[in-house]
Amino acid sequence: MVRGAADAASKLILLGEHAVVYGECALAIPLRRPRAEAAVSGALPGRPVAIELEDFGIRWDGRKRPVPPEVRSFVRIIAAAAERFPQIPARGWKMSVRSQIPSGCGLGSGTAVSAAAFRAIFRYFRVPYTERTVSELVYEIEKLHHGNPSGIDNTVISMNRPILFRRGAAPRVITVPRKSCFFIVGHTGKRHSTAAVVAAVARARSGRRAEYDAIFRSIGRLSKRGARAFEQGHWRELGKLMDRNQELLKRLGVSSPELDALVGAARSAGTLGAKLSGAGRGGCMAALTTDPACARRARRALQAAGAVATFVTRISNHG
Ligand code: PMV
Repeated sequence: MVRGAADAASKLILLGEHAVVYGECALAIPLRRPRAEAAVSGALPGRPVAIELEDFGIRWDGRKRPVPPEVRSFVRIIAAAAERFPQIPARGWKMSVRSQIPSGCGLGSGTAVSAAAFRAIFRYFRVPYTERTVSELVYEIEKLHHGNPSGIDNTVISMNRPILFRRGAAPRVITVPRKSCFFIVGHTGKRHSTAAVVAAVARARSGRRAEYDAIFRSIGRLSKRGARAFEQGHWRELGKLMDRNQELLKRLGVSSPELDALVGAARSAGTLGAKLSGAGRGGCMAALTTDPACARRARRALQAAGAVATFVTRISNHG
């Protein structure tokens, strides 16, 4: 990799979304693909920092006002990086960012581009950073977009390991067992706003607090059991837990007809379990199998049920 280049994984929440906002455990894994990439390089000395967003076809020269909305969080990333490491100059360099991760679909696209950008800046200027620093800084950027993020996305993407995450506690790294499995991901094609869905859950909870908190606790228990099942390669058990989690997410009101259709299609194709992944009300779902033929079948079933994008990812301890 060249000096100022960096990338970051996407992520999949296997169990525990929404409950994790309220202090319960959630299980998440990084995905090698799709990924986000960033590159920093030198520019004419004295020029303001320029930002190129390849996916949007935007080249911002660092001067033009107003700052395009897509560029704003990168301006903040640069300011946050320079505040943490004052040796990073305010002028004379440029950064370009691109991502294969569809945005607003629960795969951590915003988090991954932020993590890639911070890493690229730190590598280019050779500042001694840790992944914990990246995680903390990305979390500050997340707060600008999401208001009340649990911290699971920045943690799993910066650690780049499967984790059992609980707000305010040290994340537990989950080891990947020898027995491999496949996750089949289907995208409904509907973008969601995490902030809006999290806020809707908070509103619904305010009227039915005891019921919602009981659901969150049940989800938290599923996540802990899921972490054990994952570590031991008990994929059948993990699939059942995913199914149960989906039922609880439906009770929270965060599924949607499109997600239900994809989850149903994946189950009919013989997968071990399926659920929405991320904030819900659109975005992606994930299903689990150990059988490559079933993974192919499930992928076709998702396409037939209306998924606009699908992919299969293999989890194994051989990388
Ligand atoms: O932004 P998404 O769609 O990946 O959702 C993140 C998971 C939530 O639990 C819904 C929010 C959070 O901050 O944990």
